[in-house]
Amino acid sequence: MAKFIVPKEIFHGLGSLENLKELKGKKAVIVIGGNSVRANGSLKRTEDFLKEAGISSVVFSGVEADPSIDTVKRGADFFTQEQPDVIVGLGGCSAIDAAKAMWVYYEYPESTLEELAAPFAVKKMRSKAYFVAIPSTSGTGTEITGLSVITDKEKGTKYPIVSHELTPDVSIVDGELCESMPAHVTANTGLDALSHGVEAYVSNIADRYNDSLAKGAIELVFENLPTAYTEPNNKEARQAMHDASCMAGMAFTNVWLGIVHSMSHQIGGTFGIPHGCGNAILMPNVARFNSKVTDKYEDLAALFGKSTAEDFAQEIEALRLKVGVVGSIKEYGISQEEWDAKLDTLTENAMKDPCTLFNPRKPKFEEIKAIYQACYEGTKIDF
Ligand SMILES: NC(=O)c1ccc[n+]([C@@H]2O[C@H](COP(=O)([O-])OP(=O)(O)OC[C@H]3O[C@@H](n4cnc5c(N)ncnc54)[C@H](O)[C@@H]3O)[C@@H](O)[C@H]2O)c1
Ligand SMILES: [Zn+2]
Repeated sequence: MAKFIVPKEIFHGLGSLENLKELKGKKAVIVIGGNSVRANGSLKRTEDFLKEAGISSVVFSGVEADPSIDTVKRGADFFTQEQPDVIVGLGGCSAIDAAKAMWVYYEYPESTLEELAAPFAVKKMRSKAYFVAIPSTSGTGTEITGLSVITDKEKGTKYPIVSHELTPDVSIVDGELCESMPAHVTANTGLDALSHGVEAYVSNIADRYNDSLAKGAIELVFENLPTAYTEPNNKEARQAMHDASCMAGMAFTNVWLGIVHSMSHQIGGTFGIPHGCGNAILMPNVARFNSKVTDKYEDLAALFGKSTAEDFAQEIEALRLKVGVVGSIKEYGISQEEWDAKLDTLTENAMKDPCTLFNPRKPKFEEIKAIYQACYEGTKIDF
C-alpha cells in the first residue's frame, strides 16, 4: 500500500502565472530573494494578478541563497505584523523554502529549528494562511515537495524540515519566469532535476505512479536542458524543463532519493560544490554501483535505444559536458591533502544521511568511500 501526495492545484504552462487571478483571500505576503523577480517583471505581474483577485499584497525581500534561520525569523515577524491569509513564495528554491519556514513560525511562533527538523514534526498548518509556490528555477521541485531546507549559519548546519504539511496548496509552473535564469544556474538546477528523476526511479520504495513521472522527467531533461542552456529565451525548452522539475519533484517527494543526494549533500556543505553539479559528477558511478542490484538503469538506457546501465551512465556524462559541468570533484580546485583529510568524515556523514535508506543497494562504508575517491579523480568504478 502507498500514498501519493501532491498540491491540490498545479497550474502549468507558459503564461500560467495569470491563474493567480482566481485565488481567494484578502492579503498576501510575497516572499522573494534578490532582484531577479523584480528585473524579469514577474513580481509586478504577481502583484497585479493578485490585485485583480481582490487580494492586497506586501513584499518581504532579501532572502539569501541557502536561507538562514535569522532571515526566516525576520520574515515570520513581518508576517505577524502584516497578518496575511495567503503566503506566496516567488523565485528560486531559496526564496520559496524560506517562505515555507516563515509560514511555520507564523502558525507556530514558539517552534525551534531543531524541533522542526525532526521527521514529520510540523503540526497541522493553515489556521492562518495557505501557501502558493511560484518557482523561477527548474530544479528542486519545491513547488511540489513537503520540504524546506534552512541553514543555521552559527552551527554551520543545514536543516531539512520534512512534512507533507509543507506541501504547497497551489503551484504555478510557468516557464516564462525562467528565461532570465543565467546559464550556470540553468545547468546546475536542471541536473538536480535529472538526479531527482533518476533517484526516485530507482528508489527502493518506487511504485508505478512515481516511475512514470520520474521517467517522463528524465526524458524531458535530456531532450531540453541543452537547449535551455544555450538558448535562454527558448520558451518551449524552458517550460519543458520546468515541467520536468515539477514531475521529478512529485516522484521524489513520495518515494525519496538515494546516495547521489547523501553524498552530494556532504561535498556541497564541505566544499561548496553546487548541488546539481555535484549530483551530476556522482550519478554515473552511483548508477554503475546500483546497477548490480537493479535493472532499472537498463530501462533508462532504453530511452536512448541502448541496453546497459553503462550506456545510461555515459549519456549522463555526455549531457553534463554539453552544459559545461566538469567531470570530477578535484576540478573544483580541491587539493589532494584537503580531500584526504575530509574523506572519512564525508563518507561517515553520507552513510548517516536519510537518503541512504532509500537507495536500492545498501552501501558499505568502504564502498561509499571508493565511489567518492573515483569521483574525485574522475574515474569509473567497477564493483
Ligand atoms: N525544498 C526542496 O525540495 C529542496 C530540494 C533540494 C534543495 N533545496 C535547497 O534549495 C536551495 C537552492 O535553490 P535553487 O537551486 O533554486 O537556487 P536559488 O534559489 O538559491 O537561486 C540561485 C540564484 O539564481 C537566482 N535566480 C533564481 N531564479 C532566477 C531567474 N529566473 N532569473 C535570474 N536569476 C534567478 C537567484 O537570485 C540566486 O542568485 C538550497 O538552499 C537547497 O538546499 C531544497
Ligand atoms: Zn537535489
